[in-house]
Amino acid sequence: MTRPTTRPERPQFSSGPCAKRPGWSPDVLKSALIGRSHRAAPAKARIQEVSDRSRAILGLPEDWKLGIVPASDTGAVELVLWSMLGARGVDLLAWESFGSGWVNDAVKQLKLEDCRVIEADYGELPDLASVDFARDVVFTWNGTTSGVRVPNGDWIPNDREGLTICDATSAVFAMELPWNKLDVVTWSWQKVLGGEAAHGMLALSPRAVERLESHTPTWPMPKIFRLTKNGQLNSSIFDGSTINTPSMLCVEDAVDALRWAESVGGLQGLVARSEANLAAVHQWVDASNWTDFLARDPATRSCTSMCLQIVDPALADVDPKTVAARVKIMTKRLDDEGVAFDIGSYRDAPPGLRLWGGATVETSDLAALLPWLDWAWQESGKS
Ligand SMILES: Cc1ncc(COP(=O)(O)O)c(C=O)c1O
Repeated sequence: MTRPTTRPERPQFSSGPCAKRPGWSPDVLKSALIGRSHRAAPAKARIQEVSDRSRAILGLPEDWKLGIVPASDTGAVELVLWSMLGARGVDLLAWESFGSGWVNDAVKQLKLEDCRVIEADYGELPDLASVDFARDVVFTWNGTTSGVRVPNGDWIPNDREGLTICDATSAVFAMELPWNKLDVVTWSWQKVLGGEAAHGMLALSPRAVERLESHTPTWPMPKIFRLTKNGQLNSSIFDGSTINTPSMLCVEDAVDALRWAESVGGLQGLVARSEANLAAVHQWVDASNWTDFLARDPATRSCTSMCLQIVDPALADVDPKTVAARVKIMTKRLDDEGVAFDIGSYRDAPPGLRLWGGATVETSDLAALLPWLDWAWQESGKS
């Protein structure tokens, strides 16, 4: 196979921080309220604009709260685990690295007495039918490091007693989320919207707010995790008054990303862009003799973090370290060519590739990349 000639216009296929929206330039930050107090009226309004536009695009129910919290998606999830868990038993679902991280926090850091861990290996979903919704449930909508997503919310009952706590950072704005099945949803700007990291979004259902107001954890709560004041929700956090100082540059960038999201048709447009990316990769994978989706069940294949494993028959009996070394040669070559950056699989995942297909990635760029992958795989076998 000869070296392809057409390069992707934008070689950014990282799974986070993800590609900026098409047409982005630093000029979008020109009106940022830099050097102003984040408590000043115009700055608060700009911060609130992020929540308002997000709410409208996502169709968040009126009675939900949406706020900006410190430390990206991780901050949002940790804050929730520390504030809400312990009121009842919890089922923790994990099928890749990030879900396993939340399991670790509940079991080893919080040392919760009544935890059930429901796990599956890379490429699979755990047994969703075994989840007990009388308990709290913590799960990741899209497992970013295995490319396995839950296909829908049908496995979650409407009349559950526990709370469903969902890390949706690599799903939101690219997949429909059934809000009536969820109680807590978290994400960061750095994923599907191509915004900046370090700020987390926290969406709370009325039942989640009720939990915050009725449950006082036995452990101390750092200031950046505190959502209540005198036993009541500190509602100013959900009205443009962040817990601590946000970056007004990042806020401006998030507003720009949301305006772009509206311009491509809102949630429907974003989902369509991401699904088109999955379809393009799917078609190519179907014809490939050396790679396949890590996600076994097609219904669980992510349209954002598309994780591929190596199935080259020539390497059938080779140990994973050798396969990983070859993938490294391949991805370095692609990087050197300026064709694809950051597409190696996550460090704890099986060796392979991870292509981001969130809404900011153009399908034409993925289509241009695919022949390069075939070429680079072939080349990597020659050294
Ligand atoms: C599912 C999931 N959870 C949590 C995180 C951590 O996000 P952040 O670094 O924005 O806190 C990531 C990042 O890739 C993720 O994919």
